[in-house]
Order: sequence, then structure tokens, then C-alpha cells
Amino acid sequence: MEAIEMAGDLELEHVYKYFKGKTGGLSTALDNITIKFEQGKVHGIVGESGSGKSTLGRVSIGLVKPSKGIITINGKNISKMEDKEIFKLAQYIHQDPYSSLDQYLSVGEILDRPLMYLLNMKGKQERMEKVQDMLVSAGLGPEFYSRTIQELSGGEKQRVLVARAFMIEPELVIADEPTTMIDFVHRKEILDLIYNLSKMNQSTIIFISHDISIVEGISSDICVMYSGKIVESGSVSSIVEKPLHPYTQLLLSVSPEKLVNKNADFGPTSSNSIATSKIPVPVKKGCKYSSVCPFVFAKCREVEPELELSSGHLVACHQYN
Ligand SMILES: Nc1ncnc2c1ncn2[C@@H]1O[C@H](COP(=O)(O)OP(=O)(O)OP(=O)(O)O)[C@@H](O)[C@H]1O
Ligand SMILES: [Mg+2]
Repeated sequence: MEAIEMAGDLELEHVYKYFKGKTGGLSTALDNITIKFEQGKVHGIVGESGSGKSTLGRVSIGLVKPSKGIITINGKNISKMEDKEIFKLAQYIHQDPYSSLDQYLSVGEILDRPLMYLLNMKGKQERMEKVQDMLVSAGLGPEFYSRTIQELSGGEKQRVLVARAFMIEPELVIADEPTTMIDFVHRKEILDLIYNLSKMNQSTIIFISHDISIVEGISSDICVMYSGKIVESGSVSSIVEKPLHPYTQLLLSVSPEKLVNKNADFGPTSSNSIATSKIPVPVKKGCKYSSVCPFVFAKCREVEPELELSSGHLVACHQYN
């Protein structure tokens, strides 16, 4: 029997990313991230603005270099790979279709480029057929081949971005808030498109969003980030049905869909909603969430909690460990 190759595995080990802050000091965008994203699954990453989601996505495929730590795709350290080698395996869908696409190029040209430059496909006819097939799969239709990007609606541009990422049948796709710029009606269509293309290609997807209700609908696993750290991670069902970290509970309680979910046990939810209005004080030691956590106790302010197994998934909170 032939060995099955585990394609699309992404692993981060003790990854840190520091950026220079406005006042000259360093800000920590990723703070000791260790996680394995298994191949063929849709993995959701949620967290509020500035929690480090995009930085995690970008370091994962070498768009940004980590300050420390090891990142491997299919077991290979990406610091030892050329950009082109990484992009043949892994693609990034940016949230903004307006700045990510050259407005004067045709849809055909945009979709042709990855075939030419990443796959080195020489046959023009063969490339054109592949692009036409993708236009159909992406729900655009062959007539879009010669239309320029500036002639498209926002939703159509977003489809082109998704189609471009999947042109080379990548093993791994990072979708960074791909529905933020489009209206509610078209949002579902884009989510379905990403999901269907990922299943067709058996690609691993890292799906980033600040909205846990969107992530919940498309992912099999969820990883919750707060202030550069993963605070909870596990299967969608275990996290949504039994969120353990107070921050995950807060995210679920303010998510529009969860406001009507009577099954979720969020503990003292009234204090959760209060926590959203507080501005977190930067925490030097202990748990980063301790300055706004409604359940804080002495140890939280002293000792940083590790991600540990509790009720079937990982959580970094002293209440459980
Ligand atoms: N190129 C950069 N230079 C300096 N600081 C940066 C840079 N990129 C990100 N940061 C900082 O790193 C932190 C994490 O940013 P990141 O973009 O990863 O957050 P995010 O969770 O994706 O937020 P959003 O939901 O708003 O997209 C923020 O404090 C941000 O200001
Ligand atoms: Mg972001």
C-alpha cells in the first residue's frame, strides 16, 4: 500500500512576533504561540481587533518573519524555503479586494498569473481552460474572463480573490476576514465558495474572523486569541457548547447568533458585557486577561496560565488548571 502524504499540515512552535511601537518600545503581536493545524480541516481563528490574528496568518506562510520560534509546513521549516516554494503550497486571501487586486487587469490575467509564475505552466490553451473552469467553480462564469477588476462589484472581486488563491490547488489557504467588506447576503456565498473549493482541493484552511458566529459555521476547530496569545482551542462543538475561558464566553455572548442561544452556559453574563466596555490595562505579569476578567483571583495577577486540557479542549485559565 502507498504511504499517505500528510499535505497541508501547519505547525507553529513557540512563535513570537515583536513590532516596534510608536513610542520606540516593542509591542508583542504574538506571544509564545504553539499550535498544530491538521491537514484537510477548516481551522477558525477568532479574537478582537489587534489580538494578533493576521500576524499569526502572515508569519505562518512567511509574509512576515517571526521574531522567535519555528514554523513548519508539511514538516519543513519555512525559514529554509524560498518564497516561491512556500506560495506553491500556501496562499493568502486578504480581506480587502480593493487594494489586493490590480484594478486595470482582467479577471483572466489575474487568475492566469499563479499558473504561469508559480506552476510554470507553459501551455496558453491549458492555462485558459483551467481559468475558465475556475470561473465556473467560483460562480462567476466564463464571461468574466475578459472583464477588468474595476468593472466588478465588491462581492465579485472577493470571488476573484478566493479563486486566485485556489488556482494552484494549494495545500494550505489562509483566509483573513474574507467577508468583512461584503454585505450579509453575499457573505454566505463567499463562505460556501471557500468551503467547497477547500473540499474539492482537500486544502487546509485557516479562517480568520473577529466574529465567532461566522467561524463557527465553517470551521471544525476554533482557536481563540487574546492579546497575542491563544487562550482556548479545540473542536467547534466543544468550545461553542462549553466555552471555558471568560474571554471566549464574552465573545460568544456578544456574537449576534449567540444572543439567542439559550443552551450556552456563560456564567455571570451580565458582567461579561460590562467587560467589553473596559479598556484593558497592559499586563506585565500573570494572565493578560486579568485586568478585565470578571472571575480574577490573586494567582491570575501573578502567574501566566498555560494552555492545558480541560473538558475535552485546551484552555489557558487558572479557574480550571
Ligand atoms: N507591520 C506592523 N507594524 C507595527 N505593528 C504591527 C504591524 N502589524 C501588526 N502590528 C500590531 O500587532 C498587533 C496585532 O495586529 P494584527 O493585525 O495581527 O491584529 P488582528 O487580530 O488581525 O486585528 P484586526 O481584527 O483589526 O485585523 C496590533 O497591536 C498591531 O498594531
Ligand atoms: Mg487582521
